[in-house]
Amino acid sequence: GAATVRLDPAFAVGPVRPRIFGSFVEHMGRCVYTGIYEPDHPEADELGFREDVARLVRELGVTVVRYPGGNFVSNYRWEDGVGPKADRPTQLDLAWRSVETNQVGTDDFVDWARGVGVEPMMAVNLGTRGVQEAIDLLLYCNAETGTSWPDRRAKNGHVEPHDVRVWCLGNEMDGPWQMGHKTAEEYARVAEETARAMRRVDDTLELVACGSSNRGMPTFGTWERVVLERCFDLVDHISAHAYYEPLDGDVDSFLASGEDMHRFIESVVATADHVAAVKGSDKRIMVSFDEWNVWFQDRFHGESSLAIREAPELIEDVYDVTDAVVVGSLLITLLQHTDRVSMACQAQLVNVIAPIATRPGGASWKQTIFHPFALTAQHARGTVLRPAVACDTVETKAFGPVDQLVVTATHDPGTGDLAVFVVNRSRTETAELTLDVAAAVGGTPTAYALVEHLQVHDDDTSASNTEEHPDRVTPHAGDAAVGGTDRTTLTATLPPTSWHCIRLT
Ligand code: AHR
Repeated sequence: GAATVRLDPAFAVGPVRPRIFGSFVEHMGRCVYTGIYEPDHPEADELGFREDVARLVRELGVTVVRYPGGNFVSNYRWEDGVGPKADRPTQLDLAWRSVETNQVGTDDFVDWARGVGVEPMMAVNLGTRGVQEAIDLLLYCNAETGTSWPDRRAKNGHVEPHDVRVWCLGNEMDGPWQMGHKTAEEYARVAEETARAMRRVDDTLELVACGSSNRGMPTFGTWERVVLERCFDLVDHISAHAYYEPLDGDVDSFLASGEDMHRFIESVVATADHVAAVKGSDKRIMVSFDEWNVWFQDRFHGESSLAIREAPELIEDVYDVTDAVVVGSLLITLLQHTDRVSMACQAQLVNVIAPIATRPGGASWKQTIFHPFALTAQHARGTVLRPAVACDTVETKAFGPVDQLVVTATHDPGTGDLAVFVVNRSRTETAELTLDVAAAVGGTPTAYALVEHLQVHDDDTSASNTEEHPDRVTPHAGDAAVGGTDRTTLTATLPPTSWHCIRLT
């Protein structure tokens, strides 16, 4: 049906935060080994990292990458991964029952991150380890030489500190699957003491406390409150994780996954602000949505049954057009919450539920979900606007009626440029969009001109990209056109199950 969207730069949500275009590299499956790192690959650089993958990471527009886990970090001895590679022990990782050769570790990851131009974001092990190992790692990474740990770093070839600014205090400690899983009280205490010690080293660090592994956890809400009651003054962010899939074949609810993410963020913010109120504080804790994606968890039968292998193929989901539209809509949701979401990491970066896929010794290619991520990261600039949207609704089992369109827009106050991101989450109905930018024109010398309208859509919503057909699904031009006598309206046809980026200058 007909849909209208009005944009007015007066209605600003907040600045576009570059760190929401983050990603995640875990020592899991083939994300590290034969993913970013493969010393025998023809395109390996002198450190063993794949140049072809690095090129795709740059094109994806990733800004910050979380490392080294994930569940992996909760039984990781970071010391095993530094120093001469020949001396590094091979260990059994219990998170994924995998053989970990430690050929990639902290220094290597930071080298890779700097090389591809992303900010490293590190997690410490608060599962099987605690305060001491966390500060040892922090000193190894960030301290100036002159004491034992940074001197070891220098001996390992890195005289200059790594200067890692963002640190996660553990991973998913609310989850019974986690090595060293804790109750909210137990975690709150160890996170509090770890944060206090880390701040004694450097009070300018940004610390992320573990929130809930998803909104359906039985401890959701209570967990955040208990953790923040202890850690409120010591942390800057609380994490949220969410993975989406069509449960019992319910694609309508799947397309509306952003609704779950939206409710999740609102609940975490309310809980954090409740703790602030009780403490009489004006401090605002931010949400680090540091794991999110589409993940077909129903195809994964749990860690316990995995045969022990090195760099096994784990959760290498192949994404289709619908999945790309959902990923695009989740990015819209994150942008809509730019006032309280400080960071977000799509999980993961390569092979493991990832936008980039590789063949060991062979090619690398873009999954469908690569495209909405890359275009949003490239074009969301300036201020996020709150658009006024009038459209039909779609009935969903999980969320009731939801708007057919999910919309956000960014406005660059310097140039006046607008970027509009829209998803049509109806599987059957086309939306005839009228975009009204009259209020935005008030601030620019001339009326708007269309720069481009790109869409991710295909009549076959199950189409995906493969090694043989890596460009089966790519963004293609939509039909947006600027019209009206004053050239302040734009019309576009938004087909069912489609994602759009419409840019105006
Ligand atoms: O990204 C895969 C896994 O999902 C991570 O290791 C864990 O943190 C989450 O449960």
